[in-house]
Amino acid sequence: MALSFSFSCRFSREPSLNQKILLGEQLFYSPILGDDEDISCASCHKAEWAFGDNVPTSQGAKGYSTIRNSPGLFNLTRRAPYLSEGGVNTLEEVIIAPLHDTLEMASNIGRVVRRMWQDTTWLRRWFENWDSLPSPATITRSLASYLRTLKSESSRADRYYRGNNQALNVAEIRGALVFASEKSGCTKCHFGPDLTDNLFHNVGVNVSGKDQGRYRLTFKNEDKGKFKTPTLRNLRFTAPYMHDGSLTTLESVLDHYMHEGHPFSENDEIQKPIYLTKSQKSDLISFLMAMSDSDFVEHYVRREKELLTWSSIKNRN
Ligand code: HEC
Ligand code: HEC
Repeated sequence: MALSFSFSCRFSREPSLNQKILLGEQLFYSPILGDDEDISCASCHKAEWAFGDNVPTSQGAKGYSTIRNSPGLFNLTRRAPYLSEGGVNTLEEVIIAPLHDTLEMASNIGRVVRRMWQDTTWLRRWFENWDSLPSPATITRSLASYLRTLKSESSRADRYYRGNNQALNVAEIRGALVFASEKSGCTKCHFGPDLTDNLFHNVGVNVSGKDQGRYRLTFKNEDKGKFKTPTLRNLRFTAPYMHDGSLTTLESVLDHYMHEGHPFSENDEIQKPIYLTKSQKSDLISFLMAMSDSDFVEHYVRREKELLTWSSIKNRN
């Protein structure tokens, strides 16, 4: 009769949301998730870069590199389905992907759980909050609760749209008009609160065909080279751009859309080069930069320092 209870899903106590968030934050910064205990989520998702990275591809476990650019992590509740090909529907599940990917953390949730069972700090944290041993379900639920708290909505452009007329300067306002214009066509795919349709498009980035994007999931020919439209928030912090981090500046992204120096690839959905004058280009870049939220980044950089200070004080005891 006792055996009919599901081992992994039965909780003696559901912690409060705040307790789960704090545990999730501790896990996010902890190397216990990496197989050699030398890599954490924060190794690639860095607070100072809006939880993205500032290199095209990040360094994973055992000296490997990721195949894609580490994206910023914020407003994730609005971003499902996750990853560039959209293969994962919940944040609980998305955590399993980097953990097991041999180029990322090269780890295994079963081994992580066993390691946590042998660690008195984690055992204490788990019994105090979940009243149970660490398990895959409680680990992923804690981390997902933390990820859901990363909200970024206080850029200067947000303040302007909330009614503060002084929040944007004239060039940035002109740039917003260029962005919304039919001529630029940006809002065909980049719209809504995070400037993304959350759909998949081929904009001619994957010319080499090395990464087939959504095709990896659907095996449909028309999905070759399609990637999820990224948010255009926090671009000040998340360069280099595109799924492979191949474009280093916003200037180079616009040159790409204007087809400066490269031909149209087959399936590219933008079949007419977007033409912008030099001043429209610079206004548009100013507007995109004003969608960046320094308050968000500063808050989490401060928070990271607090956590590190706190853990170094505790470790000295
Ligand atoms: C070695 C670098 C690396 C590590 C470590 C890593 N990630 Fe990532 N993460 C990436 C890359 C690269 C992507 C983009 C993958 C893609 O688009 O297919 C990504 C994507 C994500 C996404 C999806 C974002 C979206 O908008 O679709 C989430 C959420 C995420 N990571 C959370 C985590 C968590 C939580 C951890 C720790 C358990 C973690 N990552 C560890 C590199 C890393
Ligand atoms: C047909 C849909 C579509 C249109 C139109 C479009 N984009 Fe994109 N945009 C995308 C997709 C999809 C990506 C990601 C491509 C990749 O990762 O390879 C992207 C990537 C970007 C990026 C990089 C973001 C990052 O974090 O890597 C920027 C910046 C950008 N677009 C700005 C614009 C601007 C400005 C316009 C108008 C001139 C525009 N886009 C028009 C779909 C579109």
